[in-house]
Amino acid sequence: MPVITNVEDLKRIYKRRVPKMFYDYAESGSYTEQTFRENISDFDQLRLRQRVAIDMTGRSTASQMIGQDVSLPVALAPVGLTGMQSADGEIKAARAAEKFGVPFTLSTMSICSIEDVAENTDKPFWMQVYTLKDDDFMRRLFDRAKDAKCSAAVITVDLQMLGQRHKDLKNGLSAPPKPTFKNMVNLATKVPWGLEMLGTKRRFFGNIVGHAKGVKDPSSLFEWTHTQFDQALNWDRIREFRKMWDGPLIIKGIIDPRDAKEALNVGADAIIVSNHGGRQLDGALSSIRALPAILDAVGDKIEVHLDSGIRSGQDILKAVAMGAKGTYIGRAFIYGLGAMGEAGVTKSLEVMQKEFEVSMALCGRTSVETIDRDILMIPDDFEGNWAS
Ligand code: GLV
Repeated sequence: MPVITNVEDLKRIYKRRVPKMFYDYAESGSYTEQTFRENISDFDQLRLRQRVAIDMTGRSTASQMIGQDVSLPVALAPVGLTGMQSADGEIKAARAAEKFGVPFTLSTMSICSIEDVAENTDKPFWMQVYTLKDDDFMRRLFDRAKDAKCSAAVITVDLQMLGQRHKDLKNGLSAPPKPTFKNMVNLATKVPWGLEMLGTKRRFFGNIVGHAKGVKDPSSLFEWTHTQFDQALNWDRIREFRKMWDGPLIIKGIIDPRDAKEALNVGADAIIVSNHGGRQLDGALSSIRALPAILDAVGDKIEVHLDSGIRSGQDILKAVAMGAKGTYIGRAFIYGLGAMGEAGVTKSLEVMQKEFEVSMALCGRTSVETIDRDILMIPDDFEGNWAS
């Protein structure tokens, strides 16, 4: 059993265990992957201010996101196809999250359905919702989330169309994988993954098959997004969704302060500063760089969260110090899930919590509410000196 000390260790095991098409799906950004890379490298531009001889006993990493208690200011982000990274992956990840005390967000594009995750977990999870054209499907999706006692809805607003990820097209990504020669050769080297997958009935898009009219087998994400996603989306339409869901609402996919103000007007409880993990607009600012201007615009009126680029407890600390009330991990928990199932997701959370706690203490802080920008060293030009 290898000694796992950080999230990168889990990633190495994950890469060996899971079919290439699903590893590539998670580990890609769109087009040149500039934004995908900068989401990570921009965290490295920030430095933490070391302090000494400050009492660091009695530490706690607990906090709140949208008024809900969290043991670490982290939620699991919605990730499509999670049940292809490991059999019944959404249920495994949701169980790990609930035991750890952080929210799990189920993707619309999940393999396990809303009902299935609710039946196999004890605590409420959050439901991510895409902005689709089909009103009936949307209403039923919100109703299903309510029946499943989901404690928040997360509306993703940055995917009216899909940014191209080259590898997904080259790999012919689908769920389940099509039995092509190339896939069979790769699957032959992934026997434990395959045996687990054969042992489950959950191999299709569980929230969609049997629920969306005329959609029998949306095995291809591309086909489905192309036909169902609403390219005509506007803020009035998002206000209609607000009316369909009367619980806590989070709007995900904001990178510009003007859009943050629009989201505020919709009556959301929080926004997520996110560029979709660098998977949509290649060339967009990294989330951590976009965060300060958005905080300036709306930070005193709405809770601001951040995703994209978080791979360590130090990253969580930097985002919180900058002013994010909470953060999300997507790939960082997928590495754990693909490597070791539920135990791997727990491992990823444990590793990051430890990193967060130690780094917070070495900055002279012992609780999340005392973390502020004073522990950060921010380069003068961090937000960029753009001509327009
Ligand atoms: C879907 O949200 C994706 O990024 O693939």
